Amino acid sequence: MIYEVTVIPGDGVGKEIVNSAKKVLNAIGKKTNKEFSYKDICVGGESIDKYNEPLTKEALDICKKSKAILLGAIGGPKWDNCEKRPELAILGLRKELGLFANIRPAIFRPYAPSSPLSSRILEKGIDILMVRELTAGIYFGKRGEKKEDNKIVHYDTEQITDFEIERTIRLGFELARKRRKVLCSVDKANVMHTSRRWRHIANEVSKEFSDVKLNHLYVDNCAMQLVLDPSQFDVVVTSNLFGDILSDIMAATVGSIGLMPSYSYANKNQILYEPIHGSAPDIAGKNIVNPIATILSCAMMLEHSFNCKEESKMIEDAVNKVLMDGYRTLDIYDESKGHKLLNTSQMTDCIINEINNSKENKIK
Ligand code: IPM
Ligand code: MN
Repeated sequence: MIYEVTVIPGDGVGKEIVNSAKKVLNAIGKKTNKEFSYKDICVGGESIDKYNEPLTKEALDICKKSKAILLGAIGGPKWDNCEKRPELAILGLRKELGLFANIRPAIFRPYAPSSPLSSRILEKGIDILMVRELTAGIYFGKRGEKKEDNKIVHYDTEQITDFEIERTIRLGFELARKRRKVLCSVDKANVMHTSRRWRHIANEVSKEFSDVKLNHLYVDNCAMQLVLDPSQFDVVVTSNLFGDILSDIMAATVGSIGLMPSYSYANKNQILYEPIHGSAPDIAGKNIVNPIATILSCAMMLEHSFNCKEESKMIEDAVNKVLMDGYRTLDIYDESKGHKLLNTSQMTDCIINEINNSKENKIK
């Protein structure tokens, strides 16, 4: 069986992390008699340089036909002053592919204690699943400037339909049902119209999920609660901008944004996988970026796109083992804890080594 992956290495550290991820997938393939084939496409800053467009029609068409897409990272200061920024490619992909929800697990691994939170908070554990609405809200609403009372007014607008709210919240309930059955819906209903509608729809949908407990939190309070006691959260569902901000807070609490994978979901046959970190231009090309977020994104791909649950677990287990043994990239390295510092390729090899040595016999 050949599993086809469309790959967008992108900009900055993108190529390095995607390269690591491919090596890990190939190791899994070798171990379990599977073949992965990759189609690399050019999107983002690199595409601006080549085609003067962050997302060409050709690239988009290939993505539309792909079941599983792996994205490294997009953007960088080089393109800050371009009329069309590289980030437009990510937004275009999300919109055009209908990737309406971004799912970001935040798991604290006790043996990788690079979190800034106190041990009193951490000992209660962190295992949160963020469900972020991805194709509506202020990211896609009308923006610009207009003249009002002889003054120029600048604006971005939060815009979302009932349908877009409902499908995201419903996915939140479905995922919560498979976990600890607590869903926290986050909004700003004390101020925003769209949030009041969001809360109303959450209450309506909850009637179909009597086994899941629904809580509501205002986004400001949620940000505080995530730092004070993240253990209280199971699944968090929220709008595009709130989700963007809250998921970076979650990343900090679990120790490093370099450990956080994600997938963006349209349907079972169209899923994009990506680390939640950006292109990190300051460390690009130095072979020091943490490849784990991207490698864990591939574990998600095996599970959700290819139904290879055991193989997915092999990657998870290998990453956990390597961290448990004290191997670290720079972002999670602490000399005082006796960590062994690895660069990107060494970390990748170390994970592959664990996969090769894992006890499981060859899976058919
Ligand atoms: C993310 C990123 C993107 C976003 C940027 C690069 C457009 O921050 O995926 O969280 O804001 O959605
Ligand atoms: Mn972000």
